[in-house]
Formats: sequence, structure tokens, C-alpha cells
Amino acid sequence: MVDSLVVVNFKTYETAHGACAEDLARAMESIDTGARIVAAVSAFDLSAVVAAAPGLEVWCQHLDPVGFGSNTGWLHPETAMERGASGTLINHAEHKVSLEHVAMLMEQIPDGFHVCACAADIHEAKALAALEPGFVAVEPPELIGGETSVTSADPGIVSGTAQAVREVASSVGILCGAGVKTGGDVAKAIQLGTSGVLLASGVTKSEDPRSSLIDLVSLL
Ligand code: G3P
Repeated sequence: MVDSLVVVNFKTYETAHGACAEDLARAMESIDTGARIVAAVSAFDLSAVVAAAPGLEVWCQHLDPVGFGSNTGWLHPETAMERGASGTLINHAEHKVSLEHVAMLMEQIPDGFHVCACAADIHEAKALAALEPGFVAVEPPELIGGETSVTSADPGIVSGTAQAVREVASSVGILCGAGVKTGGDVAKAIQLGTSGVLLASGVTKSEDPRSSLIDLVSLL
């Protein structure tokens, strides 16, 4: 049985950068739950967040398939790992890359480093699942940052992705995201066949992020 997963993407929200990222990570670390909670943080904040919340699982929001050398401005996987990242998002709707980029990254990272490849629809989810990342997360771009959870607005894309990804590669975990705000949304995501959710504004724009997180994991 896989632990239910709640990944909070800090994006570049003002409430989740710099010192606020450290505070939010500490709040996440303090939550008593059987669920697996992950912070996906800015590359700039990675080291500080890992130091501030050493018990929290911390991922990058993006990585590039480059090695040591002449790669100005790219996000180098080995440095991320050295700084404490244990996984990454890739191909987020707000940072799209080619399938080849994802494939090259998958070849480069070691076993045990978690990759969550984001997809806009079932078709893209299947293509990404064939590369066998740890997770595929389906997020309809038009629902991202909105008030209605994908689990209510388009439950079919969630259950359809879950089924399609399982047919391609049963080892790949399935997440969904966009508009996820409550424990009820997370429970519905699990009912629809996922292992959990990828979310941002439900926590980063909350007046009380810790309470929002407690609610998000309350039915798991
Ligand atoms: O990466 C999570 C994200 O794209 C969903 O954002 O604000 O709709 O939870 P949000």
C-alpha cells in the first residue's frame, strides 16, 4: 500500500519564497499525518528549506538534463541532490519541456530520486507514463489556480488518467491537481484512482496554511 501523497508546489508565490518558504516548510513538517507530504520549492530556496525542515521531503520544481560543465543558468540535478532535493516536478504547465527533455532527465537521475511528470491531459499522461517516472500528475491548465477542484470540475480526466497510466506502466503513481483546496477534494482524488494530489494556491494563498494542510490530509 502506497502512502497517499500531498505535494505542495511553492511556485514563486510571495508567501512561499525566501524566509516564508522556510516558515511554510516548518509548518508542513510539523503536521502529524500518515500521508506523505512534499514541498516543491524554488531552486534558490532549496538549501535553506532543507536546513529549516530536515524531516520534510523536499523536491525541485524543475530540473534540466545537464551534467557538470558549461551550462549557464540550467538547473543541474547533481547539485540539487547534493543540496537535499529527493525529487522533482518536470513539465509543469507553467514550465513545459519536450518529451525528450523528460526522457534525458530520467536517464540521468539515480534510482530512488523521485520524478513527477506533469500532464495537461490523458494523451500527454500516457506519453509520459511510458518513460516510467515515479509519478504522473494530470492538471488541466485552465483549472490551475482556480476555485473549483479538478476532482469536481472534470472527474473523468482524473479517473481516465488513472486507468490509462496503469495500462501503460503499472509502477507509475498517479496524482491530480488544479484547484485542490480541501480534504474532501483529496479524498475524491483517491476515490478516482490516484495516489494523491499536487496543489499550490490552497496552501500558498491560505490565511492559515497549517490549518489548510491539516484539512487537506484529514480524510487520509
Ligand atoms: O502544481 C500545482 C498546481 O499547478 C495547481 O495549482 O493553485 O490550482 O493548486 P493550484
